[in-house]
Amino acid sequence: MENSINIFEREEEFLLQTYKRIPIQISHGEGVYLFSEDGKKYLDFFSGLAVNALGYGNKNVIKAIEEQIKKYIHLSNYYINSPQIELAERLVKYSGLSKVFFTNSGTEAIEASLKLIRKQFGAEKNIITFSNAFHGRTYGSLSLSGKEKYKKYFSPLLPNIIQLEFNDLEQLENNVDANTAAIYIEFIQGEGGINIASNRFVEKIYELRNKFSFALVADEVQSGIGRTSKPFAYQHYHVEPDLVIVAKAIGGGLPLGGLITNKKFANVFQTGDHGSTFGGNPVACAAGLEVIYEVFENDLVKNIADLGNYFLFELNLLHKKYPDKITDVRGLGFMVGVELRKPCASLVDKFREKGILVNCTNENVLRILPPLISTKENIDYFINIFNEILSEDK
Ligand SMILES: Cc1ncc(COP(=O)(O)O)c(C=O)c1O
Repeated sequence: MENSINIFEREEEFLLQTYKRIPIQISHGEGVYLFSEDGKKYLDFFSGLAVNALGYGNKNVIKAIEEQIKKYIHLSNYYINSPQIELAERLVKYSGLSKVFFTNSGTEAIEASLKLIRKQFGAEKNIITFSNAFHGRTYGSLSLSGKEKYKKYFSPLLPNIIQLEFNDLEQLENNVDANTAAIYIEFIQGEGGINIASNRFVEKIYELRNKFSFALVADEVQSGIGRTSKPFAYQHYHVEPDLVIVAKAIGGGLPLGGLITNKKFANVFQTGDHGSTFGGNPVACAAGLEVIYEVFENDLVKNIADLGNYFLFELNLLHKKYPDKITDVRGLGFMVGVELRKPCASLVDKFREKGILVNCTNENVLRILPPLISTKENIDYFINIFNEILSEDK
């Protein structure tokens, strides 16, 4: 305990205070569990913010990392590295698109896409984004994000970005025209509160794209790599985006992101138009390949579809039982939100006290992102504890 107090004091002394840290010191992780220094075990239903798709300590990921670091940890992008090519091939296969540019994070992949859009369409044309959208923290991606609280100290941001209400067909129809360069969308918003794009909204976007030929950009940073039970969330709709942004789970826990383009946009960037020293690091790509094998090729996605439905069903029963506390349950696969009548920060604390880690987003939405390897028993355990917490909450 002495130690953990020290480490929190040292954190405060030596690190910029940009994060609200959870007051436990983790010693290690194993499967779907995290363990703290004081010996407590936690069911981690937040998965390192959707990064740890295969939980902790996956043997194949560790083996792939070990094998790769013995060969080379880094080559500059002046050289071809084979894990990068193999991972790109898989991403192309599962997205149905054409080519990949690798980065180290989601926000960098968004930046890459913005440069590509501006190069193709010019800086005068408009880019459309939506309320509650979250695309990252660097200047370009921040300019696309919907939340004022993240943007308020940092203007001027990028010009010619228009923000519309998510799922509002009329606003879409009135604002999209021949001057639109791109629409950025999370088909299921993560940070914004697990909001799912309606079929009619997506159909309207598609209809307008056929008319005006803007680029449709799917931000799959949180929702991609099987989390919603399909490789990418847009695959729940009948759409093919022009650009797809990936990150988080794709690196198996190591920093990795990517911009995937279709054929139409595959040659917009020419040599020297964009680059990154670390982007597509071979160790991260080798780890990511294992994630792809396990999630897509070992049928983990099927597991997520079945268990995700079961999870939503059970949560809906709690909604019926506690209508005075829960206002909505929504999600796809293992990307789940429970909207509460009041702010949910204290609920997250109660979960932690009872050995479960979850997150609260958009003030009152409990965001639940289980590792993709979670079992029915893990879900039942979560539901029992949630029921206990709700029954105790007077
Ligand atoms: C949908 C979405 N886009 C972009 C980002 C930014 O990714 P990163 O934190 O890797 O820069 C996030 C991060 O949470 C995200 O959820």
